[in-house]
Amino acid sequence: MAPYVARSGCAEGDAGRQGCWRRLFVTGAAGFIGSAFVRLVLAEEPDCHVVSFDALSYAGSLDNLRDLDPLRHRFIRGDICDAEAVRAALASGADAVIHFAAESHVDRSIAAADGFVKTNVLGTQVLLDAARQCGVRRFVQISTDEVLGSLADDAPNGFAEDAPYAPNSPYAASKAAAEHLVRAAHRTFGLDTVITRCGNNYGPRQFPEKLIPLVLTNALRDEPIPVYGDGRQIRDWIHVVDHCRAILAVLRHAEPGTTWHIGARNPRRNLEVIEAILRAVGKPTSLIRFVKDRPGHDRRYEIDPSRIESCLGWRPLVSWETGLAETIRWYRDHAAWVERARSGSYRDYYVRQYGTALGTPPPPRIAVATGAARAAVPSR
Ligand code: NAD
Ligand code: DAU
Repeated sequence: MAPYVARSGCAEGDAGRQGCWRRLFVTGAAGFIGSAFVRLVLAEEPDCHVVSFDALSYAGSLDNLRDLDPLRHRFIRGDICDAEAVRAALASGADAVIHFAAESHVDRSIAAADGFVKTNVLGTQVLLDAARQCGVRRFVQISTDEVLGSLADDAPNGFAEDAPYAPNSPYAASKAAAEHLVRAAHRTFGLDTVITRCGNNYGPRQFPEKLIPLVLTNALRDEPIPVYGDGRQIRDWIHVVDHCRAILAVLRHAEPGTTWHIGARNPRRNLEVIEAILRAVGKPTSLIRFVKDRPGHDRRYEIDPSRIESCLGWRPLVSWETGLAETIRWYRDHAAWVERARSGSYRDYYVRQYGTALGTPPPPRIAVATGAARAAVPSR
């Protein structure tokens, strides 16, 4: 059996495998990345049929799956922790499971980890068992660079696929645990599994709790922008559609049991991202509020995508400038979507997380960004 963790170069056969993956079962399909994936598949793969399976938690919305071809797309509301519901949904047959469903927000995992352990760990095991029982031929685990922890400030390259696990938040730990269960299903039961790890996604339909939509939706309403710590943390940003194209490439071509890093080579400090958004929407940096840091805050995420680039020929197609401009336009043009996301339980979450109510205008005395944001990212 091939070694589980991906090798640093291309192994023989890596780029040559071509499966027949016409019936896809997509968990978490009503969320940000899952819905982008479903839309991409239906637009680009005329022979593909998709079943979207989602519990519709606070982060999932049927709005995200609107206007899809009913002949090729079916939505089932269900919880991945519910083995019977998962088996029933899979019973009609699926060639591959693409597993996005998760509790995905680090701050929420710090406030309460139990839901993360349940959905991300137990839910993944339920799906793996059901996939074996129902004869699914491939299981794609959508994972994250966060399982590897924080990259050293002076590291010349991003993490490769064989870097050791070092998750630092309950969210990251739950995703690392899920990866271990996927590995075990492959090694013990021979299930065809592949794992993808990606950096920070941005694009349309991202729930406003995450940095880019938070900054954007607050700025458009002249509300304060909370920045954790000194705002000099680095994240590796990728447009969601580029991520989804990479997942499709891995689904089609990867050898069973391999792990793939997906990144756009686009590391940026948080303040640089925030200031770029403020400039683009014509709002002052005086909206910025430096607030208490996130506990255990990882300083730098960056992954090395060399392997997917060289073995599968994948490259990001959306530049940061174009992607950010289009994202801003999408949030401006979809005020009703934004208002729905910002209503209800998000308002309570916001008070718990930031100690102020959503929609509170900035007080008269305001902090000003220092310009440190424009300092260069460490050379690589
Ligand atoms: P999201 O929070 O926007 O969406 C998660 C979806 O999962 C929602 O539709 C939600 O309703 C659904 N869900 C939650 N619990 C469920 C359950 N028990 N049963 C069924 N459905 C459930 O998340 P996202 O940002 O789209 O992330 C999707 C996946 O990609 C996650 O696994 C995440 O770890 C991973 N990932 C995200 C990023 C990122 O930058 N957002 C980066 C790398 C990896
Ligand atoms: O790296 C991939 C991960 O990216 C995914 O696995 C996660 O699901 C996804 O949520 C994201 O995690 P981050 O913690 O990096 O994303 P978030 O948008 O929460 O934060 C990005 C950076 O911005 C981080 O350094 C924290 C900072 N931040 C975030 C919020 C919400 C702030 O400074 N203020 C804020 O209010």
